[in-house]
Amino acid sequence: MSDAPKKLYIKTYGCQMNVYDSERMAEALGGQGYEQVDSPEGADMILLNTCHIREKAAEKVYSELGRYKGLKAANPDLKIGVAGCVAQAEGAEIMRRQPMVDLVVGPQSYHRLPEMEAKTQQGEKALDTDFPEELKFDHLPKGRKAKRGPTAFLTVQEGCDKFCAFCVVPYTRGAEVSRPVSRVLREAEGLVEQGVREITLLGQNVNAYHGQEGGEDWGLARLIRRLAEIDGLDRIRFTTSHPNDMEDDLIAAHGDCEKLMPYLHLPVQSGSDRILKRMNRGHTAEEYLRLIERIRAARPDILMSGDFIVGFPEETEEDFQATMDLVEAVNYGQCFSFKYSARPGTPAAERPLVDQAAADNRLQRLQALLTTQQRAAQDAMVGREVGVLFEKAGRLPGQMVGKSDHLHAVHVQCDVPVGTLARVRITESGPNSLGGTLLG
Ligand code: 5AD
Ligand code: SF4
Repeated sequence: MSDAPKKLYIKTYGCQMNVYDSERMAEALGGQGYEQVDSPEGADMILLNTCHIREKAAEKVYSELGRYKGLKAANPDLKIGVAGCVAQAEGAEIMRRQPMVDLVVGPQSYHRLPEMEAKTQQGEKALDTDFPEELKFDHLPKGRKAKRGPTAFLTVQEGCDKFCAFCVVPYTRGAEVSRPVSRVLREAEGLVEQGVREITLLGQNVNAYHGQEGGEDWGLARLIRRLAEIDGLDRIRFTTSHPNDMEDDLIAAHGDCEKLMPYLHLPVQSGSDRILKRMNRGHTAEEYLRLIERIRAARPDILMSGDFIVGFPEETEEDFQATMDLVEAVNYGQCFSFKYSARPGTPAAERPLVDQAAADNRLQRLQALLTTQQRAAQDAMVGREVGVLFEKAGRLPGQMVGKSDHLHAVHVQCDVPVGTLARVRITESGPNSLGGTLLG
């Protein structure tokens, strides 16, 4: 066998947790002599890191796999793997339907990838969709360190015990598990040594974080305050949260922890109490609104973000109006909205769908309102002074692009290195980003 690095192509679908997982998988396979490449052509291994959250996920994976037939025919040694939540949900069925797949690995088993890869090199198939006792991140072998930009994701919690009636996450990612505090701190310190200045803590239910440290139970707020003590780490964010886990100390941290950025993604899904109940959300619209009042009392300029589902089974026009009213009351700075899609195995999948034309129409109306709010929040930044962490060069010569404290993209004519955190005066608001000038 030659010593030239083998080429690994990873295609990532879905949420930021998958982005983080793909990086860890690349590191783990780095130890097996793989180097990540940007295209599937000429790769020695192709890994699809899949998402199962919405419609036709499995079908998309099968059609993507179909595209690799030519590559596999040209190079029979090419290994093809499916990871992520579709792998978890479909398991061995993937290899039955698409025999050219060599490896299927669920999201909790990535630390076993090196052994699994070795097995495929022996011409065997490798399948692992267990929920092992050990935490994958704490058993992942470290390969060579990838180059780092100034921002990074760090998964601190996985899984979900909430069982919203529409959601596959509790089935594909399993029960809520938190990584121990010391592991998180060590990883964060390592990232900062590599030049990272902003860390986004990730978890399916990140504010349900309960990590252990010396026999003590740490909530997310305590973890954030401890991370804020790391010199060189300037910004902390976290996503995604459930309203019922927004505890007092976490709300307080938004007011008194300077490094915690004024942006919060807090999905509510619907504004109708009847639908919230049918969704098994465990809170009412009013409770959500009161919660946001408390968060805004702690941090008045916080920009709220959320997720909505329209067309959930039994949703009437009146229920939908309640969602529109809630959106008006909150005034989101950013928001995501989806048409309900039945996910096999979830309780809501058994219920009849609402009229699909009505659901499409509601989605359009909701998105129009959310877009207006998003645009207004962006326009309101004009004239303000904000922090911007520069991430890359812009398209125009002499231009840099970064993210503001409120997570807006900001273009500035300036000559500063990537990774600079600077004060910027916002001077204009375009369709998808802000423009500004460097201060001081
Ligand atoms: N149909 C539509 N949207 C869904 N989401 C989760 N499950 C479904 C589904 N079955 C949305 C929710 C969640 C986001 C990540 O995806 O809004 O917050
Ligand atoms: Fe899914 Fe989020 Fe509900 Fe958990 S809290 S079941 S991840 S929507």
